[in-house]
Amino acid sequence: MEGKKSRLLEKLSTYSESDYYPFHMPGHKRRDISGWNGGSQKKNEGFPNPYSIDITEIDGFDNLLHPEGILKHSMEDAAEIYGSDHSYYIVNGSTSGILSAICGCTKHGGKILMARNCHKAAYHGAILHHLDVEYLYPEYLESYGINGGIPAEDVRKALEKDGNKKIQAVLIVSPTYEGIVSNVQAIADVVHEFEIPLIVDEAHGAHLPFASMKTTNEAVEESNRKFPYSALECGADVVIQSLHKTLPSLTQTAILHIKSDLVKRRNIERYLGMFQSSSPSYLFMAAMEQCVQFMNEEGREEMERYEMRLHLFYDRLKDLKVLSILNHDVCKEESVFDWDMSKVVVSTKKAVTFANKTSDEDENEDVARFGGEALGNLLREKYHLEMEMTAPEHVIAMTSLMDTEEGLQRLSEALLEIDEMLCEEILQTVFHEQLGTDKKKLYEKDSLLAKLPKAVQAMKLAEAVDEKGQRITFSDSLNMISQEFVYLYPPGIPILAPGEKITKEILDRIAWYQTMGLSVQGLSDPSLYSIITVAEE
Ligand SMILES: Cc1ncc(COP(=O)(O)O)c(C=O)c1O
Repeated sequence: MEGKKSRLLEKLSTYSESDYYPFHMPGHKRRDISGWNGGSQKKNEGFPNPYSIDITEIDGFDNLLHPEGILKHSMEDAAEIYGSDHSYYIVNGSTSGILSAICGCTKHGGKILMARNCHKAAYHGAILHHLDVEYLYPEYLESYGINGGIPAEDVRKALEKDGNKKIQAVLIVSPTYEGIVSNVQAIADVVHEFEIPLIVDEAHGAHLPFASMKTTNEAVEESNRKFPYSALECGADVVIQSLHKTLPSLTQTAILHIKSDLVKRRNIERYLGMFQSSSPSYLFMAAMEQCVQFMNEEGREEMERYEMRLHLFYDRLKDLKVLSILNHDVCKEESVFDWDMSKVVVSTKKAVTFANKTSDEDENEDVARFGGEALGNLLREKYHLEMEMTAPEHVIAMTSLMDTEEGLQRLSEALLEIDEMLCEEILQTVFHEQLGTDKKKLYEKDSLLAKLPKAVQAMKLAEAVDEKGQRITFSDSLNMISQEFVYLYPPGIPILAPGEKITKEILDRIAWYQTMGLSVQGLSDPSLYSIITVAEE
């Protein structure tokens, strides 16, 4: 190894020096905010060499898990900035914040009411605390192929049905990966009537508290649209945000806020101490403090400039013909209270292309879907633009205030060019009318792809995990009880969880994911040939 960089370091350095532009996390977009000066960094004022400041809990540097000095004061400053009762730096991502919030707000063996589109971390929390789980299903927006919000009325119905008052907390995710925001204020009001806390996984919304002006769901000129309110401003009791996703902070950094009389903070603190390393990184903590301070000062103005850049970006793309971009029209859907425009969701729903075409006269040309995967690949290979996520019918470009005008322009120009290219595929307009039956079926299936199948719970998540397991081929697993998760990653939302019956719908869905070449995860058999189920007597 002497004189040689490690393989990973070599690859990272090469990538960092390339012209690939990151439309993905982390939100710093490979730019350092140390010594920030009106949009750029002052000379010689960058973040120090990581090795020079990487220490442990030596005298004078406090202890994250037992803060009494510099870290305590830093987190108190953060709480003041956010307007929370208490804010906690987290070094293991929102994942450990979600685990701590779930375990800290429920009793072991208790019950939680939870949105089915929660990240897998929420399911892991339910396993660790042996919880009974009741699910809230987001409305499915078929025309967009994405999940909508959670209606407050559904929360009320579920809590009213719970006659014995077993539910101890409610957990929702808002904004979602696609930027869909639920009416958190209305949900918090309902949940508080039942005197239990509302936990909001706002992993994707760390930037929201710093937006200049916020909108309500009223009709507002598109060009005046702003960011939604943060869950903390809407009455949520516990809010978890990934600083690294949408703000200029290092990967793994997150923050948990408590603003509530319904939550015992010591309980959450106890679990934060269990789910985090006993050697939290001082680099991460310094990056978090710097990020929060920056956002409270220069960041607010930067957010305004960013809003303007986004408006320009969306405006340039308003005439797309084949591709389409999610916009505030989605707020017309009943369950969608607001939408976070930082998430650029490009739909390929209407796009087809010629497959196997070798010349203009080629008789054997075949029409094929031009899906999210194809768009993501094209953006990467031809334009050197890396997306956050590709789904069957869309891609997501994650933006942040650290995105440059040049970066956004590269994306809009690429999308316009691709759109033009797709338009030239003259079949676009007639395709939908002349689809053969097989392709029509394919199309209909696609539209249902993101709809979460209804879970058939046969036993608790934790019980299923503790049972004796048996490995079985998928084709033989119908009606058996799963001991494993199945999800697409990203976004990491399970379609099957331990303790749930493997229905025909689930089997069809997994087979379909496989034919689409999507990244199905959660199973111990990566070939997806078999699954571990609860052993039958
Ligand atoms: C909705 C949601 N919640 C939580 C998480 C976990 O966040 P982290 O990666 O910061 O642990 C993710 C990660 O993608 C997510 O999408």
